[in-house]
Amino acid sequence: MAVKLSAFAGYSESRGWRGARLPSVTSELLQQLEQVSDEARRGLEAAADVAALTEQERLIAAKQGPLGDISRALGSLDAEGKKTVGAALNAVRAELKELSQARRSVLEAKERQARLEAERLDLTEVLGAPVDGHLHLITRTRYELEDVFLGMGFTVAEGPEVEDDWHNFEALNFPPGHPARSSWDTFFVELGSEEQVLLRTHTSPVQIRVMESQKPPIYSVMPGQCFRRETPDARHLAVFNQIEGLVVDKGITFGDLAGCIDTFTQAYFGPGIHARLRPAFFPFTEPSAEFEVVCFFCKGDGCRTCSKTGWIELGGCGMVDPNVLQAVGIDPEEYSGFAFGFGIERCAQLRHDIDDMRVLLDNDIRFLTQF
Ligand code: PHE
Repeated sequence: MAVKLSAFAGYSESRGWRGARLPSVTSELLQQLEQVSDEARRGLEAAADVAALTEQERLIAAKQGPLGDISRALGSLDAEGKKTVGAALNAVRAELKELSQARRSVLEAKERQARLEAERLDLTEVLGAPVDGHLHLITRTRYELEDVFLGMGFTVAEGPEVEDDWHNFEALNFPPGHPARSSWDTFFVELGSEEQVLLRTHTSPVQIRVMESQKPPIYSVMPGQCFRRETPDARHLAVFNQIEGLVVDKGITFGDLAGCIDTFTQAYFGPGIHARLRPAFFPFTEPSAEFEVVCFFCKGDGCRTCSKTGWIELGGCGMVDPNVLQAVGIDPEEYSGFAFGFGIERCAQLRHDIDDMRVLLDNDIRFLTQF
């Protein structure tokens, strides 16, 4: 009985090729090899998926497979025959290898394509009525605030969300160990030396970056995301947005600060909504103030939202501390400036009467479509 040649694909180890009687004549063995390689080629071409192909490759490589048998049969040939059949056997193996590699890349691409098709999410599919996509309320509020300040002659600047201690604290006149640092509950990043890299707790570090990179006069606003280790509640989020304002020029006074804040408040919230300042403390401004705006809901009469005071706190501000100007190489004898910063979500909350700020991040389509 000659080497069994029936379908390569159907070969099983349990049936095996062992014991098959092999022809001992070179020409017969070559013929045999040709048939086996045809069979193997057909097996590779017929493999419908990667698993089937792998099985075919295993059969080709198997010591007890038909090619292994031929290899063993070489032993019974004369030197000339060994050389001829050996070379032919190597050529067949090389050819089959190439073929299986080509087939493998075709099958892998096909399977990948099928997987992508199966995993594809149709993002246009909405249950119920179709909804048009639009900017998120936070983004829209940020753009509207930027527009108000652009209209007042400010430019818009940005800075990194991962900051170093110098920009977030030290240059802002918080020396290491200063107790005020603890009111900015900080997320530290495990990079560099301990507690030197952090997620910025406010947009004020961008003031430092702007002053480091350009000379006065500076009239800039700096919006962006900030991070604090806070438990979110109706009026606070751990990840939130602020917009910072910075003016540095000759002869800037507290009156300019108050005028700027009031102009912004009326432009954003509407005529009749004024701002007022109350003394406060920030290490980077002196004097410092908190600014409050007339309650948007009761127009100052006093209601539940403003705890019957008629005013709602929006942010902090003050005259840039001379130490801060000095830290960035600006002469406080020649220049003065003011800065302010407030929450963008808080503005959206006030203007759109949103009870609980957390809904801004819930991605609930019933909320999002209202804006
Ligand atoms: N950075 C301050 C905060 O996050 C706000 C502020 C900005 C205060 C600029 C004064 C000047 O609370």
